[in-house]
Amino acid sequence: MNAHEITPGVFAIHADIKSAARFEGIWPIPHGVTLNSYIVKGEKTALIDLAKDWSGSIEQYERQLETAGTSFEAIDYLILNHLEPDHTAFIVELRKRNPKAEILSTPKGIALVKNFFKIPEGLREVKTGDSLDLGAGRVLEFFETPNIHWPETMMTYDRAGGTLFSCDAFGSYGTLGDRVFDDEFTAEEHAFYEHESLRYYSNIVSSFSAFVTKALDKLKALEVKTVAPSHGIIWRKNPKTICDRYAKYAGYNTGTAPCEKEICIIWGSMYGYTKAGLEAVIAGIEAEKVPYTIHQVPDTDASFVLADAYKAAGLVIAMPTYEYKMFPPMAHILDLFERKHFTGKKALRIGSWGWVGGAKKEYEERIAAFKWTSVESVEWQGVASEADLALLKERGRELAKLVKE
Ligand code: FEO
Repeated sequence: MNAHEITPGVFAIHADIKSAARFEGIWPIPHGVTLNSYIVKGEKTALIDLAKDWSGSIEQYERQLETAGTSFEAIDYLILNHLEPDHTAFIVELRKRNPKAEILSTPKGIALVKNFFKIPEGLREVKTGDSLDLGAGRVLEFFETPNIHWPETMMTYDRAGGTLFSCDAFGSYGTLGDRVFDDEFTAEEHAFYEHESLRYYSNIVSSFSAFVTKALDKLKALEVKTVAPSHGIIWRKNPKTICDRYAKYAGYNTGTAPCEKEICIIWGSMYGYTKAGLEAVIAGIEAEKVPYTIHQVPDTDASFVLADAYKAAGLVIAMPTYEYKMFPPMAHILDLFERKHFTGKKALRIGSWGWVGGAKKEYEERIAAFKWTSVESVEWQGVASEADLALLKERGRELAKLVKE
């Protein structure tokens, strides 16, 4: 794989990560993920963002650096937009191989270089408004964009070419192979990456949506011709596509964009009695012709549940009582909803119980802070009666109507 030239003297390099190991140790990546970095050449050479040694990433980087006419040993500057180890862990080895390369990051980023990686010297703090002159007319500018994804995060901008190096922002799961630019993929491939960008956003970025919105506002002052993130596709033909997509995603849980008029059904059942009640709810939803996705827990990994639940205006939470409390796999999902700030949903919770209830109480306590609009819950003991089933169908209709509003 060769480096890909974005504009003269600016190259993308990337590693396709195909690994059974989960991203961040949590999120499955059945379609892989990329780590992207960028070489910018003036009289001096800068490497923007790095990688961790994972699934042959460093060997992939070395081959592409060579095709860009440079190497880890030859770079003059290492610019770190973000210090999470997927973009930085190789820094310890890089410093041994190239002790002269100066490392630039925000003050909080430099503190992490010192304290996390124990690298004390050859560091430069940069802030919004600062720049790095590489010579030959190539100047890189820095913009602090805290909390996309960590507090130290910034973006780097090449004004001459209009390329924005945005790190985690505008990223996606999914490997790329030999093509890296948006205009090199088919509509079907874009549909795949769109879903993987939603899954990435809901898993990694959604907690920080308010900061994404702020950063998007700041970026309006720049003439961005190419969006160059550190995961996934590089957007040179239609950079607005990914910016608009991120604005929409950020709006789902901050209220600046409406969620999709659809329902995500999440269910778990111990012996099939909750499942039987859910079927009546689904009949009600179908009667109102509202589209829905459906995930059983724990069978479906939370990563995929989050993606569909994040974009949906409506949620059905179907689970039985387990040991006086919520069905544990659903408690895990609700814990993630809280951490990722899944606010503003319209929700219906149903479920059966055996000899005593309890899930309802714990559920209502858990969602109190979520700012959800709830359709009245339905609970029943064991086998749902005909009256229970009729009520469940009606509540399904009620939720569907709310979602359509
Ligand atoms: Fe891709 Fe927050 O690291």
